[in-house]
Amino acid sequence: MKLRVFYVILLLFLAATSCNKEQEEQPEFTGFVSPKHFPETTYPFETNPVTEAGFKLGRKLFYDGRLSRDGSISCGSCHIQYSAFSHVAHAVSHGIDDKLGKRNAPPIQNAAWMQTFMWDGGVHNLDMLPFNPIQNPVEMDETVSNVILKLQADETYRQMFSDAFGSEEINSTRMMQAFSQFMCMLISDHSRYDEYIGGNETALNTEEKEGLAIFRQKCNTCHTEPLFTNNGFKNNGMPPGNDKGRSLITLNPADEYAFKVPSLRNIEKTMPYMHNGTLQTIDDVLNHYQSGIVQTPNLDPLLGSNFSLTNLEKERLKAFLLTLTDEKFLKNPDFSEQ
Ligand code: HEC
Ligand code: HEC
Repeated sequence: MKLRVFYVILLLFLAATSCNKEQEEQPEFTGFVSPKHFPETTYPFETNPVTEAGFKLGRKLFYDGRLSRDGSISCGSCHIQYSAFSHVAHAVSHGIDDKLGKRNAPPIQNAAWMQTFMWDGGVHNLDMLPFNPIQNPVEMDETVSNVILKLQADETYRQMFSDAFGSEEINSTRMMQAFSQFMCMLISDHSRYDEYIGGNETALNTEEKEGLAIFRQKCNTCHTEPLFTNNGFKNNGMPPGNDKGRSLITLNPADEYAFKVPSLRNIEKTMPYMHNGTLQTIDDVLNHYQSGIVQTPNLDPLLGSNFSLTNLEKERLKAFLLTLTDEKFLKNPDFSEQ
């Protein structure tokens, strides 16, 4: 009998808490959850597990202009959520004092699965990455030590570092870890493609499925599902310019004009395309693969003279590429400036 009373009380308690409206509006923070159809992550979570306080701190830092010399530029200035955290409509990035960088700002999505960062793979560790934009004279033009001083003088930050790391100490390691916690949570796994992979046959229409089949034949070796990158560096036949890409890091002539294979998730939103932002539309990119490939010694053999695309294949590929848009990710209020 006693046990039954206990269960009744327990049920009443559960009913009461599940009706709590506030809880419904603010779902519990789930931490980092890897989508079922994604491979193993590369980020060392054992050294820096994602917590709610750490994620929120990372988000605040990401949108804070005070991380730049004159307060004008935050990470979010060049990595804009509605374009999958890329700098939509800017061929090359646009930083402090309107200075231009030399490369297109890539999206930030599924960073926890990346092996290297930047178009040339010059950064191996996500925790080191923010040093680069903060100290880059054409991006934020500030020093990390000065940023730390600014944060230490701010009571809200002292409280947030304390919540995230257990004491008010503000140092660059903690700052970088908070950044990584935020960036690792930027997971895009809710496109129609993902629904289809998850078993919903009707999530893609016939043309899109045909596009996927062509994609698997002609593109997937480099833009490998489900992340749409093989994390490699390739020369895809763009006209060679001043930027020698991967060879700047490896000093190996065979890597000249090879660039990191970009993910194609949310490709609809991240124009313009390529490391230098020279192609404006998805059609321009497909035209490149159809008739613009420049035959150079380092061109990847997959895209050599045997490679071809028909107009119908281009149409189907485009239909498929548009299924990689993930509105839930692009509009997730948790990822926006608060
Ligand atoms: C002025 C524009 C600008 C600002 C500000 C900026 N970035 Fe970037 N970001 C870029 C560009 C351009 C690249 C590519 C650089 C390269 O390949 O050499 C990049 C690359 C990255 C990458 C690598 C993505 C990949 O796929 O390899 C990450 C992550 C990133 N930035 C995070 C940040 C963070 C965090 C901040 C703030 C501390 C920040 N960025 C500030 C323009 C910017
Ligand atoms: C040999 C490897 C390889 C193959 C095969 C390949 N790509 Fe690429 N793709 C790349 C590389 C590398 C880049 C970046 C090049 C640069 O920035 O200069 C790229 C860039 C792109 C971009 C621009 C992405 C962005 O964010 O700027 C799109 C879109 C794209 N590829 C689609 C495709 C499609 C569709 C196919 C199949 C028809 C394909 N690719 C085949 C390696 C490849």
